[in-house]
Amino acid sequence: MSNVREVIRYYRQPGSRIGYRLFLHGTKHFGFYREKDSPWLWSAAMRRMEDKMGKTLAQPSGARVLDAGCGVGDVAGHLAGRFGLRVHGVDLLDTHVAQARRRTCRRGLDHLLTFSQSDYAALDFPDESFDAVYTMETLVHAAEAEAVLRQFHRVLKPGGRLVMFEYAREFPARMPASVAEVFRQLNDWAAMPSFQRFTYGTLERLTAETGFSVRRVEDISRSMWPMLRCFAVIGALPYAGFRAAGLHRHFVNTMSAVEFWRHRAFWRYEIHTAEK
Ligand SMILES: C[S@@+](CC[C@H](N)C(=O)[O-])C[C@H]1O[C@@H](n2cnc3c(N)ncnc32)[C@H](O)[C@@H]1O
Repeated sequence: MSNVREVIRYYRQPGSRIGYRLFLHGTKHFGFYREKDSPWLWSAAMRRMEDKMGKTLAQPSGARVLDAGCGVGDVAGHLAGRFGLRVHGVDLLDTHVAQARRRTCRRGLDHLLTFSQSDYAALDFPDESFDAVYTMETLVHAAEAEAVLRQFHRVLKPGGRLVMFEYAREFPARMPASVAEVFRQLNDWAAMPSFQRFTYGTLERLTAETGFSVRRVEDISRSMWPMLRCFAVIGALPYAGFRAAGLHRHFVNTMSAVEFWRHRAFWRYEIHTAEK
């Protein structure tokens, strides 16, 4: 079972490519906000989220770390520049990996960062080759999260740390049927079968069943809502137009912003920390 083609198709859609490039310079994760931060300063918020990743990983400078689903490499770049980590990033899309290499060169971080095109469900690193592994908003795309977690467990050294910034959602039976149907559509169109599956508690159960000790699960939804709200405000009018024209499935990110903001009571943005 694989959904590699669906994931690649989703990230190659013009709506997805242009949206990420225009708003986030190609980076693909939410920002972290403290009480008084301006919701519109997205780069600063994304760097704070990456800081949060660095602090949760809690690795010494020089530690070897895997970024699974690295996108254009900005998270890895920040962790190398700020925390001195040696990061290897893998991503399904050749265009993301090429962009990550270009950005690394521009930043002068070639001595700390490497990237390769690979499926995180089939890593070709030797056993016990990383001090830590992290995902930033990507495991939701996994066709079979168990297979990915097994790979993470295999490539981690004993005692190594796994940190996952991922989404979880309310049980369908506890949501209005119309909202459950919107989630189903969005997760289908954005190639996120694991978000569809990650009802509250599921990811920590799977992590434990893989053999990890789950250390902490933290709900930080409220700290990322300001950015989502900005996108929902910007997307509201276009979304109404796309919907009226029956074109909304081609603008999944616009639809996600509006619908996930509207139904924010039914999902969470979580930080999962575990150890091998
Ligand atoms: C929402 S983006 C996050 C990118 C990056 N972590 C960031 O924060 O900017 C999800 C990324 O996961 C990658 N991805 C999805 N499934 C993958 C898989 N099976 N193996 C490797 N990468 C994958 C996608 O290509 C995409 O770049």
